[in-house]
Amino acid sequence: MAQEKIGTLPVVRSVAALRQEVSRWRNAGKTVALVPTMGALHAGHLALVERACALSDRVVVSLFVNPAQFAPNEDFAQYPRDEGADAAKLAAARTDLLYAPPLEEIYPPGFAASIDVGAIAAGQDGRFRPGHFRGVATVVTKLLLQASPDVACFGEKDYQQLQVVKRLVRDLDIPVRIEGVTTVRESDGLALSSRNLYLSRAERAVAPALYRVLGETAARLEAGEVAAPALADAAAALMRAGFAKLDYVEACDALTLAPLERADRPGRLLAAAWLGKTRLIDNVPVAPAAEASQR
Ligand code: PAJ
Repeated sequence: MAQEKIGTLPVVRSVAALRQEVSRWRNAGKTVALVPTMGALHAGHLALVERACALSDRVVVSLFVNPAQFAPNEDFAQYPRDEGADAAKLAAARTDLLYAPPLEEIYPPGFAASIDVGAIAAGQDGRFRPGHFRGVATVVTKLLLQASPDVACFGEKDYQQLQVVKRLVRDLDIPVRIEGVTTVRESDGLALSSRNLYLSRAERAVAPALYRVLGETAARLEAGEVAAPALADAAAALMRAGFAKLDYVEACDALTLAPLERADRPGRLLAAAWLGKTRLIDNVPVAPAAEASQR
């Protein structure tokens, strides 16, 4: 059968066709990277493709808007979809293959299994999006088993997701290296996100405060302050800046995401806040405070 293409980009839509392409590469001694996405691609996604190119000979990008990770009240139906535009961006970014399966290919009739990664998925976003990380973990496990890449790239933008994926890969002995890629931001600090398209002009003006406040709070922890008062100030500053609602702003251990009382080990500040109907998430690293790390 002739290979389907969108422009110059080869496309496969079944697990069998994906595996065939990947084994052709493997037989030729090539290494393979996978970049899982839900489309609506922007420079953040393309940074993952660029890293994937640097780390391996061949790059597969998957495009699948995964219903299992959206709650019934979330934006699955409205999630932006434009396969043609995505394919053009991927071709320019030197992707070798687009894997864009239909729903039934990922969830055939009778589909029942799921991956639950426990505590690491329970806090932060897991608390406000019940079932979200089970949906993510299940689809990512499937994509890794389908493409069997040497390396898979994920953005630090979704920091908890990155840790969830690292956990499941270790726990299930999936032979893949998980590569985290630094968050790509607008010049005013706002993390690129497909959901930024939903922001009104006024909301867009408020949005960069999320990164700014997280950065200021990280600096306080790194200077040796305890987390609780700095986090309370961060919450107040976000509301003052114009956020409508705050789901959480937390200081966590960088690997386990357990609460961090002070910066005595590598940490991460994570936050989720609402502007109108749009929910933004962001996170920044917290380096161990000089004094604390010497103790
Ligand atoms: P999606 O939101 O499309 O994101 C795909 C990948 O791009 C994720 O690894 C995400 O962290 C990364 N990404 C998004 N914005 C970024 C930015 N500004 N800088 C760097 N990387 C960024 O995340 C998902 O899809 C899904 O949950 C998925 C993993 C595909 C499973 O369905």
